[in-house]
Amino acid sequence: MNPALRDLVCGMPKAELHIHIEGSLEPELIFALAQRNGVALDYPDVESLRRAYAFTDLQSFLDIYYAGASVLLQRQDFYDMTWAYLERAHADRVRHVEMFFDPQTHTARGVPFAEVITGIKQALADAADRWGISGGLIMCFLRHLSEEDAMATLEQALPHRDSILGVGLDSSERGHPPEKFARVFTRCRELGLRLVAHAGEEGPPAYIESALDVLHVERIDHGVRCLEDAALVRRLAQSRIALTVCPLSNVKLRVFDKVGDHNLRQLLETGIVATVNSDDPAYFGGYINANFLAVFEVLGLGREHAHTLARNSFEAAFLPEPRKQQLLAEVDAWFA
Ligand code: ADE
Ligand code: ZN
Repeated sequence: MNPALRDLVCGMPKAELHIHIEGSLEPELIFALAQRNGVALDYPDVESLRRAYAFTDLQSFLDIYYAGASVLLQRQDFYDMTWAYLERAHADRVRHVEMFFDPQTHTARGVPFAEVITGIKQALADAADRWGISGGLIMCFLRHLSEEDAMATLEQALPHRDSILGVGLDSSERGHPPEKFARVFTRCRELGLRLVAHAGEEGPPAYIESALDVLHVERIDHGVRCLEDAALVRRLAQSRIALTVCPLSNVKLRVFDKVGDHNLRQLLETGIVATVNSDDPAYFGGYINANFLAVFEVLGLGREHAHTLARNSFEAAFLPEPRKQQLLAEVDAWFA
């Protein structure tokens, strides 16, 4: 790839809006935390664990992802994981991050909600102090579990309401449509939480529609299957409901066979507010800039696409207006 374009893309200010913090847990840290906490793993060493990262679909990934998260027990573990991600994000010129976390993955193992959230929050606060990175937490409900379980998790979160920006919906998509979580999302909306959901990753475009119509989400995570429905594409473009697209994830989980088949370029051409993100960077082969570089190289994207994608990332962010305008101005200055 042209080195000037590479530097332009890598150095541009950007927001990351689709990162599962548990998906940033690198194999080396998994083994270090397993040792620190006396947790037994099914793999003898880092290399054999890494070799298991050959996924055939979303579920095959989730099985390993939840096993990896089993080493997280103490507040310090959540801090160390989040700090390691933030160092990488800072190196990729991430200026704002909205980070998913999966409390049910931890509370189901007896880890107190407070240990999870205080560890993550402290790392975000330290990154704000050190680098001026702004951030927020999006608590995801696991869609393979019941709505009652999600509601109980929301109850546990209430003492931490002020530390939570919004809620999302993740885990196994097929067979778990958004409407399964209608009541808990209504409650979250009443609480003033921002709303997002994974939809149209493996699931059909109808799941994107029900995330919009039933859950009233403000962004769609993935959403790449929207192109199968022309009316939905027009709706997303006109409403400026953003998609948080994760190219390397989509290839690793076989949503597309190869980066060259990815539809990011078409999504941008329809006028949809698409953004580029890493999803679970420790599992999918790269952090946010690796995702940008993969699509820029293979899809033949250029300077204008870079400018649009950087602007989209801040436009789609749940930021107070002055900070949003400040970051958009940083983008425009980079491209001036
Ligand atoms: N949890 C972590 N990554 C996910 C993804 N890509 N889709 C659904 N749930 C997830
Ligand atoms: Zn995701």
